[in-house]
Amino acid sequence: MEILGIGIDLVDISKLNEKLAKRFLTPKELEIYNNLQGKRKLEFFGGRLAAKEAIFKALPDNDLHFSELEVLYDNFYKPICHYKDYIIHVSITHEDNKALAFAIVEKKSLD
Ligand SMILES: CC(C)(COP(=O)(O)OP(=O)(O)OC[C@H]1O[C@@H](n2cnc3c(N)ncnc32)[C@H](O)[C@@H]1OP(=O)(O)O)[C@@H](O)C(=O)NCCC(=O)NCCS
Repeated sequence: MEILGIGIDLVDISKLNEKLAKRFLTPKELEIYNNLQGKRKLEFFGGRLAAKEAIFKALPDNDLHFSELEVLYDNFYKPICHYKDYIIHVSITHEDNKALAFAIVEKKSLD
């Protein structure tokens, strides 16, 4: 396993809304978002935004658009992102009006 980068980001979820969620979440992320209620929606959305900022900081090249990044859950409910030949391990937390995410980029092995 080769770690190529790490990133972290903090988002103020009080500034987020439904319109922004529809703009920034991928269709699969939006499906999860639409099944949540109340503040959980903003926490989920804020967590995804923080995760994507953290992934951007962690990736070796910055030549990408946010719409190319999708943060879903693995079988153990851990957030994960697959992008090009990278696997990006993400950890998200939220409390009060803040969502924080941390990302580690690993190159996928060929075997
Ligand atoms: C899953 C759990 C860790 C979430 O912690 P929390 O303090 O309730 O909530 P946080 O805000 O810190 O984290 C929530 C985020 O954790 C992530 N998450 C959920 N389940 C997870 C898991 N199994 N592993 C890693 N990350 C997980 C999600 O991204 C979630 O946010 P999202 O759904 O909006 O994307 C917690 O509910 C839990 O089950 N804890 C187990 C407690 C325990 O056994 N403690 C003993 C430790 S030795």
